[in-house]
Amino acid sequence: MLRETVRALADEKIAPRAAAADENEEFPWEVYKDLVAADLHAVHVPEAYGGAGADALATVIVIEEVARACASSSLIPAVNKLGTVPLLLSASEELKQRYLTPVARGEAMFSYALSEPEAGSDAASMKTRAVRDGDHYVLNGTKMWITNAGVSEYYTVMAVTDPSAGGRGISAFVVEKDDEGVSFGPKEKKLGIKGSPTRQVILENVRIPASRMIGEPGTGFKTALATLDHTRVTIAAQALGIAQGALDYALGYVKERKQFGKPIADFQGLQFMLADMAMKLEAARQLTYAAAAKSELAMNGTPVKDLTFFSSAAKCAASDAAMEITVDAVQLLGGYGYTRDFPVERMMRDAKITQIYEGTNQIQRVVMARQLLK
Ligand code: CAA
Ligand code: FAD
Repeated sequence: MLRETVRALADEKIAPRAAAADENEEFPWEVYKDLVAADLHAVHVPEAYGGAGADALATVIVIEEVARACASSSLIPAVNKLGTVPLLLSASEELKQRYLTPVARGEAMFSYALSEPEAGSDAASMKTRAVRDGDHYVLNGTKMWITNAGVSEYYTVMAVTDPSAGGRGISAFVVEKDDEGVSFGPKEKKLGIKGSPTRQVILENVRIPASRMIGEPGTGFKTALATLDHTRVTIAAQALGIAQGALDYALGYVKERKQFGKPIADFQGLQFMLADMAMKLEAARQLTYAAAAKSELAMNGTPVKDLTFFSSAAKCAASDAAMEITVDAVQLLGGYGYTRDFPVERMMRDAKITQIYEGTNQIQRVVMARQLLK
C-alpha cells in the first residue's frame, strides 16, 4: 500500500517536474511541498517528535519510489534522514525535541556535514575546529560537498575538539543556517542530481552553545560512522529507484519501437539484456531490504554485528547495479536514449553519484573487507 501511494504521487507530481529540476539546476520546492503534504519528506522521524515513525524498510520504499521518478527529489527524505540520525543515535532528549519536530512538520530540512576539501574518504583527517569558550564552542573550517546546503536550516557538523586524539578527538554539533558566521559556497556544477544543491558550508567564528554538541566530546566520528551504517541503506534505495525507473522506461520503449518490421523487444539479444537488468536489480533490492531490516533492529537497540557489512554491501551492490542498468537503458533506446527528450540519460547521469557519495564503492569494499577480516 505504501509503495502504491508513493508511486501514484511520484507519477503524478514528481516525474513531470524531474526534467526541469535537472535542466534548470533548481531545488524542486514544489515537490518538497507535495512531499510535506503527504508526510513523506522525513518519514523516518519517530512519532515522539511528531514524525510519521516509518521503519527503515518503509523509508527505503519511499526513497525508492521517489527516486524512480526523480533522483534529486529522493534526496529530500534521504538527506533529512542522514542529517538527523546522529541526533537519534546520540543526542540529548532536549536536542531531539528542539530539532526533530520542525523537520517532522516540514518547516526545516537537515543536512550532514562530514566531508572537507582535503578529507573525503579519509574523513577523520578533517581540519574544521571547534574550540570551547566558556559555555560555547567556536567553529572554524570549510565543509565540502554538502547536499542540500543552503536549503537546509540545520546541519550536523563534525569538527575537531582535540587535535591530539585523531578520530577520538572529533565531536558532532548542530549548526543552524542562521548562526552568525555560517555561509555557503557557490553551487557545484555537477554531472547529475542537479536538482539537489551541493555546496560548501563555510564556518567563520561560528559561536554556538555547548549544549548543541551531539553526545559526548570525542564521540563525533563514531556517531558519524554509525549514522552511515543506517543511511548507506537509503542511498542503496535511491540507486534501486533510479534503476527501476530506467528499466521500466526501457521495457515500455522496446515494445513500441519497431525495426526490421517488428518491435525491437522481439530480438533475443535485447531480451537477454532486459533479463540481466531485472536480475541485477532484484538481487540488489533483496540485499537492501535485508540491510534495512538489520538497520531497524539496531535503531531499536538490538546489537546487530553485521549491520556495517550489510549496509556497505547494499550500497555497493545497488549503486553498481544502477550504473549498469541505466547505461543499458540508454543502449536499449539507441540514439533517442542519448538525448534529453527521453529520461534515461538523466537517470544514467544521476546513477553515477550513488557509487561515489556516502563513501565511494572502493571505501565500501574497504569497510566490508575489514568486517570480514576482523
Ligand atoms: N560504527 C561505529 N563506530 C565505528 C564504525 C561504525 N560503523 N566503524 C568504525 N568505528 C569506530 C572504530 O571502532 C574506531 O573507534 P576507536 O577510535 O575507538 O578505535 C573509530 O570509529 C575509527 O574507525 P577506523 O579506525 O576504522 O577509521 P578510519 O579513519 O580508518 O576510517 C573509513 C574508516 C571506513 C574509511 C571511514 O573514514 C569512511 O567511512 N570514509 C568514507 C567517508 C564517507 O562515507 N563519507 C560520507 C559523507 S556523507 C555523503 O556523502 C552524503 C550523501 O550521500 C548525500
Ligand atoms: P577521495 O577520497 O579523494 O577519493 C578519490 C579516489 O580514491 C576515489 O576513487 C576513492 O574511492 C579512492 N580511494 C580513496 N581512498 C582509498 C582507499 N583507501 N582504498 C582504495 N581507494 C581509495 N559529504 C558530506 O559530508 N555530506 C554530504 O551531504 C555530501 N554530499 C555529497 C554530494 C555530492 C554530489 C558529492 C559529489 C559528494 C558528497 N559528499 C558529501 C562527499 C562524498 O562523500 C565524498 O565525495 C566521498 O566520500 C569521496 O571523497 P572525495 O571526493 O574526497 O574523494
